[in-house]
Amino acid sequence: NPRLDFAGKTVLVTSGPTREAIDPVRFISNRSTGKMGHALARAALARGAKVILVSGPTDLPVPLGVEYVPVTSAEEMYRRVRDYYRDCDVVIGAAAVADYRPRQFSQQKLKKGDSDLVIELTRNPDILAELGKDKGNRILVGFAAETQDLIANAVDKMHKKNLDLLVANDVTLEGAGFGTDTNIVTIISRQGDTTPLPGMAKSDLANVILDRISELF
Ligand code: PMT
Repeated sequence: NPRLDFAGKTVLVTSGPTREAIDPVRFISNRSTGKMGHALARAALARGAKVILVSGPTDLPVPLGVEYVPVTSAEEMYRRVRDYYRDCDVVIGAAAVADYRPRQFSQQKLKKGDSDLVIELTRNPDILAELGKDKGNRILVGFAAETQDLIANAVDKMHKKNLDLLVANDVTLEGAGFGTDTNIVTIISRQGDTTPLPGMAKSDLANVILDRISELF
């Protein structure tokens, strides 16, 4: 199905988890595998886009034909996304970016003691929210991984981050969210419509999301 509706468009996708280092051997991260982001990158490429895939650590193979930008931490992801942002027409934030990082990185491996250990965390930049402040004519699409009040939280995130579309992910559902080959989502638009979708392969969902973006061109 060679619809080349993304020909001439530059699409940046953030994907996968970030890792926030505690010391040389330890980090804080999450369960994202990069499957959703990779599916979006491949689908956009197949539809004619120039694709930049800014990816946290993942075991997935690099999709052939995309500009692959591997990163580790949220701060690094933000810097690299900024490097490309000017020339982007579309940004899709599928990454599970850590909201916090350890305030102090310990140069030496932390030693085990007899008492509890407290690690103080500090806020990471919110990548999509920062991009939303400087949106221009770009189309910005976010995901929301939620465990409660799916639609209310998702609508809130869409407005706070100045997004056009928000893909709301109830990650408590079987066959949805982290690590699976399928996803179950509701797409919410700035115009106010809410489209619940049946469970489907992440590759198919990627094309449904691109259909919605393409309507906005
Ligand atoms: O990678 P997989 O295993 O395939 O799993 C897919 C997924 C569950 C990770 C994906 O479908 C998904 O829901 N991604 C968003 C996960 C998330 O962190 O959601 P959030 O509600 O915390 O963040 C909301 C949005 O803001 C997201 O688009 C996120 O990329 C973005 N964000 C969040 C925090 C931050 N500091 N910067 C951001 O840009």
